[in-house]
Amino acid sequence: MGGTVDLSVDIGGMRLRNPVMTASGTCGYGEELAPYMDLRRLGAIVVKGLSLKPRPGNPPPRMTEVPSGLINSIGLQNIGVEAFVRDKLPSLMDLGVPVIANIFGEDVEEYCLLARRLDGSGVAAIELNISCPNVKKGGMEFGRIPEEAHDLVREVRRATGLPIITKLSPNVRDIKEMAMAVEEAGTDAISLINTIPAMAIDVERRRPRLSSIIGGLSGPAIRPIAVRMVWEAYQAVKVPIIGVGGIMGASDALEFVIAGACAVQIGTATFIDPAVCEKVLKGIEEYMDRHGIRRFVDLIGSLEVS
Ligand code: FUM
Repeated sequence: MGGTVDLSVDIGGMRLRNPVMTASGTCGYGEELAPYMDLRRLGAIVVKGLSLKPRPGNPPPRMTEVPSGLINSIGLQNIGVEAFVRDKLPSLMDLGVPVIANIFGEDVEEYCLLARRLDGSGVAAIELNISCPNVKKGGMEFGRIPEEAHDLVREVRRATGLPIITKLSPNVRDIKEMAMAVEEAGTDAISLINTIPAMAIDVERRRPRLSSIIGGLSGPAIRPIAVRMVWEAYQAVKVPIIGVGGIMGASDALEFVIAGACAVQIGTATFIDPAVCEKVLKGIEEYMDRHGIRRFVDLIGSLEVS
């Protein structure tokens, strides 16, 4: 069956050639990975979170490696939506791969202005970041309380015709409740999970390793939590779910898919192997071949529990 498997998947009206995407914030605006892999092989490119105005982010140090993961506190550094649309989007669009713009604001109005600005710009969808743990205003503020997440998504839904993917935080009482709230408000898809607040200390200096003291943990350390949350959300909602969290190889990605994800995002692993997305895709194809599965969509939520 080699080469004949159908990897395509629909997410909120977007047709993806395959289910492997970059995760927001881990490859800038895509070009950082270009020397290492053919970006046209990706199912979609998700870019670093965009705000209305450029942001310098938090002061360094803002990343530190820990066993099985990475703690970051970038503080949503980005070039701002206008520079993105003008300077980055045209060459990304030339690749012929859907571009998903991750966006965040300090209040509902900013999210809506961003969504409106991106409508018609050429991006294929927006990913609403309501889950960043590293900023005082915006970010996770909207991602903790189902009613607030609901109202934000409802307003953004009114502001744009673009498909909306809402990126959920794991730092909630019940992921099902959050997933249902944003589904009810009109999100087209959900991505989960963002990072988990964490801290590391340089014991010789007795100082925090990050200037912000606390950052967000990503990488294999959080994968079992992410898989569990995808599984729980899959029981609760009908909208497509994109699995994120510590995917290092194809079998990790397949865990998410079997738990219910229709696509995956890969982030921290690209710091070790910038070509990892291509390898994950190849591994999924090989798995499908080996198991006689012709259509990728038949794998979604195929966990056998009895
Ligand atoms: O600090 C950061 O820029 C992280 C963003 C996020 O986790 O969404």
